[in-house]
Amino acid sequence: MEKLGLNEIRTRFLEFFRGKDHLILPSFSLIPQKDKSLLLINAGMAPLKPYFTGQEKPPKKRIATCQKCIRTPDIERVGKTARHATFFEMLGNFSFGDYFKKEAIEWAWEFVTQDLKLPEDRLWASIYEQDDEAFEIWHRVVGLPEHKIVRMGKEDNFWEIGTGPCGPCSEIYFDRGPDKGCGKPDCRPGCDCDRFVEFWNLVFTQFNKDEEGNYHPLPHPNIDTGMGLERIAAIMQGVDSIFEVDTIRSILDHISQIAGIEYGESYKTDVSLRVITDHIRSTTFMVGDGILPSNEGRGYVLRRILRRAARHGRLLGIEGPFLSRLAKTVISQSCNAYPELKEREEYILKVIEIEEERFRETIDQGLAYLREYMDELKEQGQKVLDGVKAFKLYDTYGFPLDLTKEILQEEGLEVDEEGFRREMEVQRERARAAHRITDYMGMDSNVYKLIDAEVSTRFVGYHALESHSRVLAIIKDDTRVQSAAQGDEIAVVLDQSPFYAESGGQVADQGLLLWDNGRMEIRDVKKLFGNKIIHYGRMIEGTLEQGDVVHAVVDREARLAAARNHTATHLLHSALREVLGPHVEQAGSLVTPQRLRFDFSHFSALSSEEILKVERLVNQKIMEAIPVEVFETTFDEAKEMRAIALFGEKYGDRVRVVKIGDFSIELCGGTHLTNTGQAGMFKIVSESGVAAGVRRVEAITGFEVYNHILNQDRLIGYVCRELKTNPFDLEGRVQGLIAQIKEQEREIANLRAKLASSLVDSLIEAGQEIGGIKCIAANVEGQDIEGLRHMMDVMKDKMRVGVVVLATASDGKVHFVAGATKDAVAKGVHVGNLLREVAKITGGGGGGRPDMAQAGGKDASKLQEALSQVCVLLAKQLGIK
Ligand code: ALA
Repeated sequence: MEKLGLNEIRTRFLEFFRGKDHLILPSFSLIPQKDKSLLLINAGMAPLKPYFTGQEKPPKKRIATCQKCIRTPDIERVGKTARHATFFEMLGNFSFGDYFKKEAIEWAWEFVTQDLKLPEDRLWASIYEQDDEAFEIWHRVVGLPEHKIVRMGKEDNFWEIGTGPCGPCSEIYFDRGPDKGCGKPDCRPGCDCDRFVEFWNLVFTQFNKDEEGNYHPLPHPNIDTGMGLERIAAIMQGVDSIFEVDTIRSILDHISQIAGIEYGESYKTDVSLRVITDHIRSTTFMVGDGILPSNEGRGYVLRRILRRAARHGRLLGIEGPFLSRLAKTVISQSCNAYPELKEREEYILKVIEIEEERFRETIDQGLAYLREYMDELKEQGQKVLDGVKAFKLYDTYGFPLDLTKEILQEEGLEVDEEGFRREMEVQRERARAAHRITDYMGMDSNVYKLIDAEVSTRFVGYHALESHSRVLAIIKDDTRVQSAAQGDEIAVVLDQSPFYAESGGQVADQGLLLWDNGRMEIRDVKKLFGNKIIHYGRMIEGTLEQGDVVHAVVDREARLAAARNHTATHLLHSALREVLGPHVEQAGSLVTPQRLRFDFSHFSALSSEEILKVERLVNQKIMEAIPVEVFETTFDEAKEMRAIALFGEKYGDRVRVVKIGDFSIELCGGTHLTNTGQAGMFKIVSESGVAAGVRRVEAITGFEVYNHILNQDRLIGYVCRELKTNPFDLEGRVQGLIAQIKEQEREIANLRAKLASSLVDSLIEAGQEIGGIKCIAANVEGQDIEGLRHMMDVMKDKMRVGVVVLATASDGKVHFVAGATKDAVAKGVHVGNLLREVAKITGGGGGGRPDMAQAGGKDASKLQEALSQVCVLLAKQLGIK
């Protein structure tokens, strides 16, 4: 057997199927497009689902790919076995209603025996137990002896996920020889031991399973095959594990070298070496497709994987960050097949570096928490850490359960794994709920299945804002109907349409459909699989029938306003790169007629100078009145011109390019101005952070800037009128006023103090004598509580034996403060109790200590009466009649 490198096997496979008249497509992004049933692409067929369901027409009926894939359900086993991995590449050939079982089996056999030259006597096949057709092909056409065709049950050899296209499958196995096996007499494919490796799965998608569980034969059955590239490479290279395959081994060796640990030294360090090797591959590819670490969805998957790798680095004793260095090795091993890795290298390394740095911060925090938990347990004489806490460590600080367990064990403690799993389940449930909305083929709504792939809409809206269009389908309440009447909320498919459907961040056009005696208002427009443009809205008058011809009219003003914002978004993108650096990548955008929003990768907040620079540069390009050129070309030529393509976006062979002089060139399907000058003016209205490493800028253009200026003008005008000045003197006037107010505040405070002190003297003067205690009760106008308290303190200081109650009223409410000197308290005074009684008279309450109290009242008209009772009540308190 020839020892083929992994990259060589990939090329051979694709070339083989090119020779069988297949269209070879590059790998799709790991981010599923328009498929809410899936977080990450997990099989070669996943990005091709619309072709399997017939929602979209494939560019050719025969396609072959090598698809990057991520699967995480077995993440805990990665590193511990020779074949588990989160990242892998899947080779696949696909037929959409073209060839079927016979060719699929024959070609698979031809490829492995003639191209790869695997010895025939080492090959076995499994089939679905009832699939006699597949048996006949393997036995009679290929010539595989009967005993090497193993029939298996539905569990193993029937491919289905929920409802939708499904069918029996046939798997090809390689026999690694009896010395790798269990030695049992019935050892054969399907046995638990390591002797037979399954490496290629041929799925014969011939049924459609409905909700009731019935299988209906598909009119055009499909073929979906998947061969694990790493597995076949391990077979070809005669190695026991995927980690010893050439390209993967060089990543592992790099880690060994950084850690100074040989592979094979011990089981424990081997596990860590394998975990890091696999995880850095996943990480590099995910970041390369535009996924950023976060706490939800794909971002969370990435964060877990990356942190797990970082933690295993610590276990190997690696000091300091090391993951971005490894990512470089991944890129150099894979960049021929995945050129996007090379193009985004700088960016990928930066994102990994920052996330690793962040984890270095939390891992110590996590360890500190765990220490605290352990101390608590010991204090309470307990042994088991509760599952919620273990989960918090896992979830918040990226501590896998085994790490927590290990640390606990060292101190004779354990963890409630059951409780941990319960928490984990709750979290999984949350994640599942998020993408259970659709069936596994990712279709949003069943009704659109009823519109076959032949129905499609020609978009004419780049050049025209009106068209005469035929109604191809009408949908009402999720059902197809023949006609609609006034008041109906409906969706309409037309044969051609000037309406731009929401896409690439630009919102949909609005407008009208007009016909004789009828009118429909279009409020939203969406593009479905297979170029069907759906117009949503309300029937304003008349009736509409399928087959009618209508006059479709787009709202011109709104379209132009959106175009201003879209062209400005491109200018902004280039300006940000120029001012901040080439690491700026678009992470999302929203273009509406009112404003634009642009999210991009950048690792700190923009300073005011940076914002000004960016804003100024965009305005400069607007004032230069640069023509906006829009043209179609091939994807390769566009790349040659250094056009910016977006992360994870699916581009066909022909792409649309939007070019603004030498300043900006992007692949884009949106509607644009013909000249930047039409944007009028550009203004940034906010800058903020949306996630780790992602900033957001919001901005306006055209009339919105004009309205913004008018609004500012109106505000300034109002302020000038009120302050009796003009815009030129406004600043000086405001500064003058602020100084004046400060000065006056100082003066008022002085006067208050003076007033209070003379008031204090006269109040003491006027106090009554009750049993040797001076009793003072007074209403002090114009003081706040602070002022009252201050006055009271001054009065207490001036008297030897005295009781003071001061009150003030504002907005109908009454506030009291009261105090007694030490000597008065010694004589039995308790102003807390006294004041409670007094406040009651004004319908309030309060109280306090013997020497100090505070209270409130509701009825200011009773204030005088209340104060007149102070000395009476004091006498009562002292027992004086
Ligand atoms: N879709 C099939 C698999 O993933 C080929 O195994």
